[in-house]
Amino acid sequence: MKLFIYNGTVVNANGSEKTDVLIEDSIITKIGIDIVEPDDCKKINADGLLVIPGGIDPHTHLEMPMGDLRTADGFENGGRAALSGGTTTIIDFVNPVRGQSFLHTFDQWLERAQKATCNYSFHVTVTWFDQSVADEMRILAEEKGVNSFKHFTTYRDTIMLDPDSMLQSFEQVKELGCLCTVHAENDEIITFLQRKLLSQGITHPRGHVLSRPPIAEGEATHRVIAIAKVVEVPLYIVHLSCADALRAVVSAQQKGQEVYAESLCGHLLLDESVYFAKEREVAARYVMTPPYRTQEHRDALWDGLASGAIQTTASDNCTFTQENRNRGLDDFTKIPNGSPGIEDRMRIIWDQGVRTNKLTPEQFVAVTSTNAAKIFNIYPRKGLIAPGADADIVLWAPTKQHRVSAQTHLHAIDYSVFEGFTFTGTPLLTILNGEIVFENSEVTARPGQGQYIQRPQF
Ligand code: URP
Ligand code: ZN
Ligand code: ZN
Repeated sequence: MKLFIYNGTVVNANGSEKTDVLIEDSIITKIGIDIVEPDDCKKINADGLLVIPGGIDPHTHLEMPMGDLRTADGFENGGRAALSGGTTTIIDFVNPVRGQSFLHTFDQWLERAQKATCNYSFHVTVTWFDQSVADEMRILAEEKGVNSFKHFTTYRDTIMLDPDSMLQSFEQVKELGCLCTVHAENDEIITFLQRKLLSQGITHPRGHVLSRPPIAEGEATHRVIAIAKVVEVPLYIVHLSCADALRAVVSAQQKGQEVYAESLCGHLLLDESVYFAKEREVAARYVMTPPYRTQEHRDALWDGLASGAIQTTASDNCTFTQENRNRGLDDFTKIPNGSPGIEDRMRIIWDQGVRTNKLTPEQFVAVTSTNAAKIFNIYPRKGLIAPGADADIVLWAPTKQHRVSAQTHLHAIDYSVFEGFTFTGTPLLTILNGEIVFENSEVTARPGQGQYIQRPQF
């Protein structure tokens, strides 16, 4: 299949130009104003539109088992939601249960992702560590295309890694030429505050934000940066949500340490006041970790994106139905954590970032696509519009509006934390691996059309 995109403005992270793009099969083959288009190609008029690299969402949880629950969005509908919002590649997480083989768990996730409608890759979470795990990490890195391993400093009952094991895992990640990623919050502070709040009779979902203060995130971020420094391994902080954690990251970056940070579209938009809704069912919808913060922290995140201290934006798409959430209405610690975002991430960044002049269109491309491609080592195959790159492309309408509603979204949940927001800037057309998969407000991607993206060691 051949596609010729003309009259548009190509926006890459390093500059923009009014130029045309030729796609042959799944690859961009030519960029220029003097392309002689082949007779047998489909022509797409991009007048007034931006032609940008498909978004990369480096943090999703599709069909993720959690206890007896499973996240509602799967690789089929979640991929469609992504494509409709301009994201063509996601990096999801393989989470082995403690004691479980990493390779076996990786195969289970690959099997689930067979029906993916967008491109996908996997981080693997180090939930336990011994020599057998170290050996399997090597196989994942050398043979399976995994170059990033995630660690948790909280959730002590399930996936938190003890500090000794974390050091050993970091060392193995370094040895493999991979990247450490961390969910950083101080588990002791959180557990202490959770118990205290419950003993005071505070069972309402607001207990979630009250028990996870910015200082707990700041302390753990500082701590894992120190561990990474000792081991001399590159570090990526997932869903950094507050000024306290950002200060630790910036301080390390200024001293020359290789530390990256990701912010979530939800943290960039929503305020902690959502947890204080009187109706518990409503407040419970917003329970995600770290929690939404105050304006002061959102301002810090936007400054971090604009200055380059924060490199990527993700969704952390992790959806649970209202029924699932209601199991914690009388005890906020029992509400399954997570929010949607795979569909609206790029609209939120454009609307709140570019429309308000906090980011340029080029920075928008950097933080929604290019930087993730570079950090996770799939650049310039992804994250760039240039000859030789994969043809994952979005035609972005910078002034077209999109109103979010649970009635019309593609998520498999019956509410939206973004309900009623109208975002300016939205995709008109999405191309995945050289094929149009979203056009005229309709996603046409087939189950299995998404490809597994191997990410090489550094
Ligand atoms: O609340 C969240 N973020 N749930 C998903 C798991 C994680 O911590 O990333
Ligand atoms: Zn996390
Ligand atoms: Zn997550």
